[in-house]
Amino acid sequence: MAKSWKNPVFQAFLADAKAQLGEKVLASCIACHAPAAAVTADYKFESRVSQEGVTCNFCHNVSAVDPSSKPASYTFEDANPLLMRGPYSDSDPGSAHSFVYSEIHTKGEFCAACHNYSTPGTDIPIEMTYGRWKTSKAAAGGKQCQDCHMPPYAGQAAPRISKMNRDKVHAHSFRGPRGGALDSVATLKAVVEGGRLKLSVANRRAGHALPGGGGGMRVIALSVSFFGGAGESLSTTSVQTYGIQYADAKGKTPVPKWLAAKVARQTEIPPEGTVVEWCQIPPKAKKARAILVYHFIDPAYVPALKQRQVDLTGHQPVVLARAETKLP
Ligand code: HEC
Ligand code: HEC
Ligand code: HEC
Ligand code: HEC
Repeated sequence: MAKSWKNPVFQAFLADAKAQLGEKVLASCIACHAPAAAVTADYKFESRVSQEGVTCNFCHNVSAVDPSSKPASYTFEDANPLLMRGPYSDSDPGSAHSFVYSEIHTKGEFCAACHNYSTPGTDIPIEMTYGRWKTSKAAAGGKQCQDCHMPPYAGQAAPRISKMNRDKVHAHSFRGPRGGALDSVATLKAVVEGGRLKLSVANRRAGHALPGGGGGMRVIALSVSFFGGAGESLSTTSVQTYGIQYADAKGKTPVPKWLAAKVARQTEIPPEGTVVEWCQIPPKAKKARAILVYHFIDPAYVPALKQRQVDLTGHQPVVLARAETKLP
């Protein structure tokens, strides 16, 4: 969150968006990626705070969120920037700031401000994380986004100021796919059925679909390699790609979210769900090895980013699961 403005991959795509749509596109991007700059209309980023991405003050000054598919649907209350809104009605901030209890901060609806939106006018879905969570069993069971991404622990909220011990404070790590959330999130099974290879991909514990968001950017690729009797490699087949990919007005695909004129393809692994894919077995194949790989960046964009020497640290693909089976 703190890096959402400085993130070099974001900066590279922002430069493209400006080149394609003009400087005015900046205002729409920073509404989510640098909201402190957006709410102060600091479009030149003269203040250092503007560069701090999704900041403490920003989130704790939000007084309401419209969880619809409107982009950046938060109400930022700037009348008193030192009035912090949060989950406690008995906060103990000393003289640092004043506080008020805010129910929205304890609910997944809060995150919908930025993690749920469609393109205004054309209504093309971009971020669907909140919507997919809302209809999941996790949500029905009362699990909020915060429970998984800001896991609660017992301790002190601000140890230097308040000695109050609490049953529940929230890790502000916003643990996501870069922070270990991908470990064992999906499972993969491979069996032979009716002469074909049957692959079952299950979403074990994301509280929403897989991939969880990042429309037009994150994709999960399922492929199979076949080997002969002596272990020699025969072929590799791409079986499925999960994620949402857009086409522009001329039908070119994939294109990034700001050029989306329509959805070119959309597949996902639903929350608590399993999808089944089938694959033909080539002659002479004696072993199949399937692999499920999470790509932060649609591989179609990677060569150009590398050529521009964009720092891709934290964006390397991650293997989610593997499965192997002998073939008859
Ligand atoms: C309504 C909020 C919102 C708006 C507006 C928005 N984004 Fe995003 N963007 C997000 C969210 C949320 C993510 C992260 C999704 C995830 O991690 O699943 C994201 C991710 C990205 C990423 C991927 C970053 C990475 O490191 O992988 C890029 C690039 C990006 N956005 C560019 C833009 C550009 C350029 C604009 C303006 C044309 C824009 N975004 C407008 C919310 C928004
Ligand atoms: C993306 C929004 C967001 C950002 C950024 C953010 N917070 Fe929070 N913070 C929350 C939410 C949401 C909660 C309440 C979680 C709950 O109760 O489920 C919270 C809770 C808190 C609490 C109450 C104790 C606790 O952990 O529950 C304190 C204190 C706090 N935040 C301080 C900070 C500080 C300081 C920063 C910057 C270093 C910060 N927050 C950044 C959203 C944010
Ligand atoms: C003001 C807009 C905004 C709000 C509100 C917001 N986010 Fe985000 N979030 C973003 C953006 C932008 C990114 C993408 C940053 C990037 O990839 O550079 C992001 C990324 C993330 C990620 C992915 C981190 C990673 O490692 O890829 C997680 C997880 C996340 N947000 C969870 C939450 C949760 C949970 C809430 C609610 C408590 C929330 N966000 C509220 C804008 C927001
Ligand atoms: C039951 C736990 C759980 C709940 C509830 C949950 N998440 Fe997640 N989330 C995960 C896991 C596990 C991942 C890693 C898999 C992935 O990246 O899709 C993840 C990934 C993400 C990502 C990164 C998606 C990507 O692939 O780029 C974002 C953003 C995110 N969650 C936001 C949210 C928001 C916002 C909510 C509430 C509307 C929420 N999550 C609810 C477990 C949860």
